[in-house]
Formats: sequence, structure tokens, C-alpha cells
Amino acid sequence: MNDDYWRARWRDGRIGFHEGLPNAQLAEHLGRLGTKRRVLVPLCGKAEDLAFLGAHGHQVVGVELEPAAIESFFEEHGMVPEVTRMGPFVRYACGPITLFAGDFFASTATVLGPVDALYDRAAIIALPPALRLRYAQHLRALLPAAVSGLVITVEYPQHTHEGPPFSVSESELREHFAGLSVELVGESKAEGASLQLLDARQKCFHVRF
Ligand SMILES: C[S@@+](CC[C@H](N)C(=O)[O-])C[C@H]1O[C@@H](n2cnc3c(N)ncnc32)[C@H](O)[C@@H]1O
Repeated sequence: MNDDYWRARWRDGRIGFHEGLPNAQLAEHLGRLGTKRRVLVPLCGKAEDLAFLGAHGHQVVGVELEPAAIESFFEEHGMVPEVTRMGPFVRYACGPITLFAGDFFASTATVLGPVDALYDRAAIIALPPALRLRYAQHLRALLPAAVSGLVITVEYPQHTHEGPPFSVSESELREHFAGLSVELVGESKAEGASLQLLDARQKCFHVRF
């Protein structure tokens, strides 16, 4: 699951993970993020959730490996971003949305600026086990204490599918966020062709950092 894997998926249009509308769990639990936050959205793709968060008064800070995904997001929303280089990242900014093209694991508080909320949909579940541990550690280093996050996982019998998306159990998530409050706030059947075939459950957790 290296960078080339994701770049090839974007290049070939194999983006079945892209919901094309705001995630239902986000819409239901948005209030848990607080108001007027600067929300970190790791591995953001071109999710409609970015625009949804922006439309609800938040500033949005997304990080996505594939620049074409970011460019599509702005184009599809009729927005023309200001583009600047910042170290290993290219920063695209327009209105409440700032998206960084580059490797999330190379992101720093200096590059991203202050953030005070987290939204993870199809980010932790996009990563194989060893990277999930690194991802959670990186999040914990980036996010200040007392901020709220929504983390949406999927669960299914892992042996039935190679992944991604990977099944991330509630107990695994609690291990990654040990010492933090992790509350299951929503659960539904996962949508999307491959997830429906896998009979996957989508779970939404409210994590307090
Ligand atoms: C499963 S998709 C989810 C995208 C988005 N969150 C959504 O809900 O549609 C995972 C995304 O993470 C991106 N990605 C993978 N590894 C990354 C990394 N190390 N840094 C930044 N983005 C990454 C991929 O290019 C892909 O767009």
C-alpha cells in the first residue's frame, strides 16, 4: 500500500471509496466536533465531506497524497485555489478549505498550522496494520489536548478481503487511542459496492484527545 498504489488508483479512476456526498455519520454527529473549528482531515481524497465541513462554519485542513484529487475537488466545487509550495507539500487554499498535497506522515504542526478537531473517514482503514499504528501516533503528536475527533471505521471478517479498506476493530482503535476517551456514537451498514458485498459495518467513534 505504497504511494504508487494510491497514485495508480487515482490515475485509473478506481476510487470506489469516494462517496460523492457527505458521509451520513458525519452529518449525524457533526455537532460533536464543536463549532468554528479548524478540522484536520487526513488522507482526504476529494471527499464531499470537505465542502460539508466548510459549509458548516469550519475551517478545513486536508492532507492528500495525490494532487489530481485535490485539483478535482476544487474544480468540481467551482473554486480556484491559491497554490503555494511549502517544503515537501503543495498547499491549495480557497475560502475555508486548505488542502495539502503530500505525504501525511511528513506533515508537521508548522506546515498545517493550528488544528482543533479531527475528521477521519476512510483514512485509518485505508492503511495496513503497521502504518495504522504510525498514523495514530502521528495524529496524537499533531493534535492538541482536549480536541474532539470523529473517526469512522469499517468492520468485516478480514480474511474475506485483502484490503484496503481494512477492517479495524473497536478494540484495535481503543488500543491506538489508549488513555483517550473513545465513544462509539453511531453504527450502520457500510455503503458502497465492495463494502456491501463484504457485509461490512461502519462505526463512528467520538475521540477526545
Ligand atoms: C480510501 S481513500 C479515502 C479518501 C477520503 N477520505 C474519502 O473519504 O473519500 C484514502 C486516500 O488516502 C490517500 N493517501 C494514502 N496514503 C496517504 C498518505 N501517506 N498521505 C496522504 N494521503 C494518502 C489516497 O491517495 C486516497 O485518496
